[in-house]
Amino acid sequence: MTRITRATIHLDALRANLAAARAAAPASHVMAVLKADAYGHGLLRAAGALAEADGFAVSCLGEAQPLRRAGYGHRIILLEGFFDADEIEAFAADRLDPVVHAPWQLELLAQHPPSEPLDVWVKVDTGMHRLGFPPRELADVRQRLSDLPGVRGIRYITHLACADVRDDPTTREQLQCFEAAMAGLEGERSIANSAATLAWPAAHGDWVRPGIMLYGCSPFVDHGEAPALTPALTLEARLIAVQEQAAGARIGYGGTFVCPERMPMGVVSIGYGDGYPRRAPNGTPVLVNGRRVAVAGRVSMDMIHVDLRNAPDARPGDRVVLWGEGGLRAEEVAAHCQTISYELLCQITARVTFQYDGDGHGTGAP
Ligand SMILES: Cc1ncc(COP(=O)(O)O)c(C=O)c1O
Repeated sequence: MTRITRATIHLDALRANLAAARAAAPASHVMAVLKADAYGHGLLRAAGALAEADGFAVSCLGEAQPLRRAGYGHRIILLEGFFDADEIEAFAADRLDPVVHAPWQLELLAQHPPSEPLDVWVKVDTGMHRLGFPPRELADVRQRLSDLPGVRGIRYITHLACADVRDDPTTREQLQCFEAAMAGLEGERSIANSAATLAWPAAHGDWVRPGIMLYGCSPFVDHGEAPALTPALTLEARLIAVQEQAAGARIGYGGTFVCPERMPMGVVSIGYGDGYPRRAPNGTPVLVNGRRVAVAGRVSMDMIHVDLRNAPDARPGDRVVLWGEGGLRAEEVAAHCQTISYELLCQITARVTFQYDGDGHGTGAP
């Protein structure tokens, strides 16, 4: 038996989730967020499945250039823009759209005009206080950009801090702030992440920017009301040992799980070296042959223990799903681990074998 630790990417799920984003914001263009290796799904394979999107959003040149090299002609937005003067020409060469979020970027654009003018997105800080110009500076920023020969189109973008909490008043305040800042300014606008795409029609604007929902996870903190989304990644491993343990046996490093009775204990071929979260506590759900069992004891680098009392017939070689297919969602595992699905998806390591299913009915590759 070879070590099986595998992530299967369901390309049909990506397509279906994109359709769900479109259905939620039918009047807007959809910019599929592909940063961080498409949230751990594989940049180019995810782009192929999401090629029906109107644009792509990524974080840096290292994520944008492979898309262009692969032949994607979409509008590609780099959410943090260029990081230094040397990058500006690369934006022009590959027709990439920088977000311009800070005065130093304005200075660089003025000092290092690209050979072809760029379409830029001005980031407005409406309350997230991470990147962006204060609303009161927007008219000046626009004026400065319009005066630059290296700038062609100007669009506007802001980011919501609390859209994942449905009744948080911050979202309404940010929308009002953006609206006021935009008074009298022309140009396309983009506000909505996944949560706002699903729950805040007033935030749809010209371009929605869904990320996590494309990968099939609910963007909401309560995980509610995203039933139409299909998990796009199944993480699986195998049982490699099954032992009968005595009552009182202490399991794994630190002996943090103590068997309350004589019971079957399984060992699974996945650990934090594969990206399974080390902080998954006792009780974190796992599927063995489709049945829910629980993590027991500390996660080690290559293995976890599972309490098999709920799957007493399980044997070495049996299939274990950590999240994805079978009704165990990454959001649920993440909640046990005090984190979010985003982090679980992004931290799967190179040791895991990736495979892609759903090819053959239009990969969307250019
Ligand atoms: C600026 C920006 N827009 C859109 C997104 C997509 O957000 P989500 O994955 O919650 O849909 C992100 C992700 O963090 C982001 O940073």
